[in-house]
Amino acid sequence: MDIWKQDYEQLIFLQDRSTLFKAVIAVHHTKLGPALGGCRMMHYGSEEEAALDALRLARGMTYKSALAGIPYGGGKAVLIARPGSSRMRETWFRTLGKQLQKLNGLYITGLDLGSTVQDMDWVREETSYVTDTTGSLGATNELTATMTAYGVFLGIQASLKRVYGSESPHSRVIAVQGLGKVGYKLCRYLSEAGAKLIVADVDPERVRLAAAEFGAAPCDPNAIVSVPCDVFSPCALGGVLNEASIPGLRCAAVAGAANNQLAAEEDGDRLHERGILYAPDYAVNAGGIIVTAAELEGADAAKAKRDTERIYNNLERIFAQAAASGLSTARAADQMTEALLK
Ligand code: NAI
Repeated sequence: MDIWKQDYEQLIFLQDRSTLFKAVIAVHHTKLGPALGGCRMMHYGSEEEAALDALRLARGMTYKSALAGIPYGGGKAVLIARPGSSRMRETWFRTLGKQLQKLNGLYITGLDLGSTVQDMDWVREETSYVTDTTGSLGATNELTATMTAYGVFLGIQASLKRVYGSESPHSRVIAVQGLGKVGYKLCRYLSEAGAKLIVADVDPERVRLAAAEFGAAPCDPNAIVSVPCDVFSPCALGGVLNEASIPGLRCAAVAGAANNQLAAEEDGDRLHERGILYAPDYAVNAGGIIVTAAELEGADAAKAKRDTERIYNNLERIFAQAAASGLSTARAADQMTEALLK
C-alpha cells in the first residue's frame, strides 16, 4: 500500500532519538469533531508498516464514531515497540502526552492493544487530551469492554432477527473466537440468554474457564472459523474474513468485536454471494467508543448503555438498505456512513 494514496487529513511522525521513541499519529477526519482513537503499542517491521496500520485504524474510527452518532472524528496513535522497550514506557508515554498537548486537542488518545491504564496516566500528567485513565468511566470495571460486549450481543440479536425472524439467542449456536476482555463478557451475555456456545482461544486457560462457567464447547483455534453454527463471532483478530476462510464458513451470520474483520473490501461481497449475513464490524463494536465519548462529555454509564443500544437499530437500517439496494451489508454500511461524513 502506498501512504500517499490513503485518505487522511494529517499523518504525524514523532521521534526522540535520545530515548528511541518513535510513534505515528494518523488523523483521518475531524469534520464531525476531534479525532478520537486509542494508542496501540506493538512491534512493526518498518515505520511505513506502522503508519499504514495507524491510517487504517484511524479510518475505522471515523466510520465507527460517525455511525454511532457521537461528535468525534477518527484518529489513532501507534507507538513502535522495540526489544526492551518496557523499560522506556513512562518516558515514551510522557513524550506522547507532550506532543498531544502541542496538537491542542486535534487528536484525543486512549487505550488500545498493548497500552495500559498506567500508560494513559502518564499521558495525563502531560496533557488532558487522553481518556481511560485511572478512575475514568472507561477504565472503571472495564466498562469499555463490557459495553463493547453488550453491543456485540445486540448485534448478534439483530442478525438473528434478520436471518430467523426472532432475535432470541435461546438454543442458537454461537461460535466465539477469542475469550479476552470482550469475548468472555460476550459469552456471559449469550449464556444468560440461553445460547449454546462453542469457543476458541489460543490461551487454553480461558477456554477451560468458559467451559466451566458457561458450559461452552471447546474448539481448536484453527477450526473455529469453519465450525457449524448460527452466528460466528470474531472477537480476537482482524482479517479473519478473507478469500481463504470465507468458502469454509458454516454459519448463517457473522457478528463480532474484532476491528477490520474483512481482509479486503471484496470480502464483504464474498460473504454476500455466499448468503451469509455480515454485521459490519464498526457498526457492531462501537460500545467502547461510546463509553469514551460519554467519559469526555462527563456522562455516566447509564447514558453510555442507552447510546450503545442504538447499535441494534443501526444494524436493522444497514440490513434493510443492503436488501433494498442489492449491495453487501459492508458496502451499504459504508454508504450510510459516508453520507453522514458529508
Ligand atoms: P484481548 O486482547 O483482551 O482478547 C483477545 C483474545 O483473543 C485473547 O484472549 C487472545 O488469547 C485471543 N486470541 C488471540 N489470537 C487468537 C486466535 N488465533 N484464535 C483464538 N483466540 C485468539 O482483546 P479484547 O479487548 O477482548 O478485544 C477483542 C477484539 O475486539 C480486538 O480485535 C479488539 O481490537 C476489538 N475491540 C475491542 C474493544 C474493547 O473495548 N476492548 C473495542 C472495539 C473493538
